[in-house]
Amino acid sequence: GKGVAVFTSGGDSQGMNAAVRAVVRMGLYVGARVFFIKEGYQGMVDGGDHIQEANWSSVSGIIHKGGTVIGSARCTDFRQRDGRVKAAKNLIKRGITNLVVIGGDGSLTGANLFKQDWPSLLSLLVKNGEITEEEKAANSHLNIVGMVGSIDNDFCGTDMTIGTDSALHRIIEAVDAIAATAYSHQRCFILEVMGRHCGYLALVAALTSEADYVFIPENPPPENWGEKVCNKLKQERSMGQRLNIILVAEGAIDQQGDPITAEGVKKVIVDNLGFDTRITVLGHVQRGGSPSAFDRLLGCRMGAEAVLALMEATPETEPCVISLDGNQSVRVPLMGCVLKTQAVARAMQERKWDEAVTMRGRS
Ligand code: F6P
Repeated sequence: GKGVAVFTSGGDSQGMNAAVRAVVRMGLYVGARVFFIKEGYQGMVDGGDHIQEANWSSVSGIIHKGGTVIGSARCTDFRQRDGRVKAAKNLIKRGITNLVVIGGDGSLTGANLFKQDWPSLLSLLVKNGEITEEEKAANSHLNIVGMVGSIDNDFCGTDMTIGTDSALHRIIEAVDAIAATAYSHQRCFILEVMGRHCGYLALVAALTSEADYVFIPENPPPENWGEKVCNKLKQERSMGQRLNIILVAEGAIDQQGDPITAEGVKKVIVDNLGFDTRITVLGHVQRGGSPSAFDRLLGCRMGAEAVLALMEATPETEPCVISLDGNQSVRVPLMGCVLKTQAVARAMQERKWDEAVTMRGRS
């Protein structure tokens, strides 16, 4: 059977284990040999025990776990040609020419470069006497399929990334918990949520938790946001509300592109209204905990589709990403999505927010 390896790279997210499990089991089901690569690209470069053959039971009891049981790393060695040469040798020695990468846009870009580099890496390995001409011929094509694991939901080409739904559950649980204590003391709470340069988590959490105000990178507030926030909070209190909840995305910015921070918002409220105000930074709690049913299913569906894509790949097949499009798992060109994701980042930097949001929409 074909040699397939799965690895997780970059920041972890809930549901990655479901995806790994699906790759292993679907791979075995279709008669492939499946391997784990532990610790992401670093494990591929280091080889040895980091690359292990998987069997049906090696992925038992992981679907309910947060994080990634096969480890993840941000790897600098793989960025060097030397590192990629070692990685290629480690794969070829095990007959692996099919890779499933679960990670963010950086990890997917790395995989694409690896594929482009593959023929020259093989030639170098032959020249150095590390592999034979026969081995080179038998492993001449590298197939790549990606899945996006990230709580941020910041990737173009998919409706949802693996982990976003679970992170939202964590966030609204936290907001609900804080609302209870805020109510008791008639306090104002400002919660900072993750998402890097994407406001999806903050926005959806705000909509679903009855927050009074939300700050996101994609829609910087008007210059007089301080006044607007204070008026809104005063209005809520005058209608009998005993508490206020404000969500701030960690990437929130103002019209000038300067960060809007929880501390900054607190200062405005305390200086103008004198409300008893507290800040809670939710941090990595958002990335932990068990994956939601949605993320488990998303991981399962994408993992299974990833294997099918690899099995059907021909030497001409371009790397794809498995994406969710209107509740269907579909294959979309990997580099097209990566480039679009990077274009969104550029548009955000240039403060072209409408353009960024439109581009980030599906496909
Ligand atoms: O990309 C996922 C994410 O959790 C972001 O929301 C956050 O900005 C970042 O990773 C945190 O990175 P680290 O885990 O390296 O601190």
